Amino acid sequence: MYIYKVGVVGAGTMGAQIAEVVSYAGVPVMLADIQETLAKRGVESVRAIYQARVDKGKMTPEQLEEKMLLVTASPNLDGLNDVDLVIEAVSEDLTLKQRVFHDLDQVCARSTILASNTSALSISAIGAATKRPGKVVGLHFFNPAYAMPLVEVIPGLATDPQTVDDVISFAESLRKTPVVVKECAGFLVNRLLSPYLNEAVLCLQDDGAASVKEIDQDMVSFGMPLGPFTLLDALGLDIALEVARILHRSYGPRMAPAPLLEALVKAGRLGIKAGHGFYDYLSAEERGRDHSLEYLTQQVRQLTGQQSMRWTRSRPLLAMVNEAVTVLQEDVASARDIDLAMVGGTGFPNDKGGPLHFADQLGIDHVLQELEEFRQSLGVRFWPAPMLRRMVDAGFTGQIAGRGFFSY
Ligand SMILES: NC(=O)c1ccc[n+]([C@@H]2O[C@H](COP(=O)([O-])OP(=O)(O)OC[C@H]3O[C@@H](n4cnc5c(N)ncnc54)[C@H](O)[C@@H]3O)[C@@H](O)[C@H]2O)c1
Repeated sequence: MYIYKVGVVGAGTMGAQIAEVVSYAGVPVMLADIQETLAKRGVESVRAIYQARVDKGKMTPEQLEEKMLLVTASPNLDGLNDVDLVIEAVSEDLTLKQRVFHDLDQVCARSTILASNTSALSISAIGAATKRPGKVVGLHFFNPAYAMPLVEVIPGLATDPQTVDDVISFAESLRKTPVVVKECAGFLVNRLLSPYLNEAVLCLQDDGAASVKEIDQDMVSFGMPLGPFTLLDALGLDIALEVARILHRSYGPRMAPAPLLEALVKAGRLGIKAGHGFYDYLSAEERGRDHSLEYLTQQVRQLTGQQSMRWTRSRPLLAMVNEAVTVLQEDVASARDIDLAMVGGTGFPNDKGGPLHFADQLGIDHVLQELEEFRQSLGVRFWPAPMLRRMVDAGFTGQIAGRGFFSY
């Protein structure tokens, strides 16, 4: 099915970015929100994204105006009655999304595909609010959508294979890299990123062997585009905690949020948007009376105890690798797609190829041994995924052996 026109519901941060990506590919897009003024504000946000390109000399003002002809605001949902695909990007709330999908189901033609940009909610549950669950699918863009190549495609239990094929072709026409992910909490990227970020916080909380800045610098020297604390501050600590809680509810103790993350959120240190998080972005006067990171860390340590271990980047990295292997075991995605998604969705260093290629480079026997050591010293969250032992026993020990997650 060819997509001639797209509707975007929810003209906030992601809605505007998605509308920009769609219009940039030459497809007309209509934005809708609760009120027309908000939809129009979304159109202006699209213009601002294009303007930044013009300012960098990557586009002419004439090209900007041409693209903007494709972007319109709808006074209400009814305006989306002639689109082939709707991408919903309203706030992350299941009841709200179900209501929006129920309404879209009434307004849109029977052939229209209804996609959700949800980060973590169940596509099956959203689809169940419509009479066309076969045409409901997850289409998860990453922030900023104009720069991040990855799009996760998540079929719900009732999604038709044709719908999946249609949105894959559409994502490719946007010059994105679509990766099909079996529905599970956190989908693929957030499910692997969250334990990595959480472990970085636990490293800081446990031993204090390295500072926020030192850990960030070390992960950047490994090749990550941003250190874990810079990334957490940019994402918003409240958002990161909410994701961690969703994962904890689904997967149990190995995903328990770090108490220090909870303490920072409780103290209002939510990251860049609040002026302070793991870093301080405002002067002491501007911030007013706040709890410092050091104070909160000491408070948490009094409750959890302090362990003294040297800082090692293996802790956060192997937390991610172990979850990648678990995801592979569960058939959530192929080894190739897991690596592709982590490079495209998080900037995992390209030269390391993604967490599974990285494990092959380290040696699967080495990964297993290190996870065992962490399990003994740090707890069962590091319980090695069973597939690792199977691979070691069978001689699939990675790049040096010529076979591991991939063949060499
Ligand atoms: N922000 C991110 O980094 C990011 C990344 C990937 C996915 N997501 C997901 O994208 C979705 C949107 O997130 P966001 O950060 O853009 O949120 P946002 O708060 O910036 O925007 C949400 C928009 O939805 C509108 N809205 C609320 N109820 C509505 C309704 N009933 N009808 C129409 N519009 C309505 C709001 O007015 C607002 O403009 C969420 O599901 C989120 O999980 C966010």
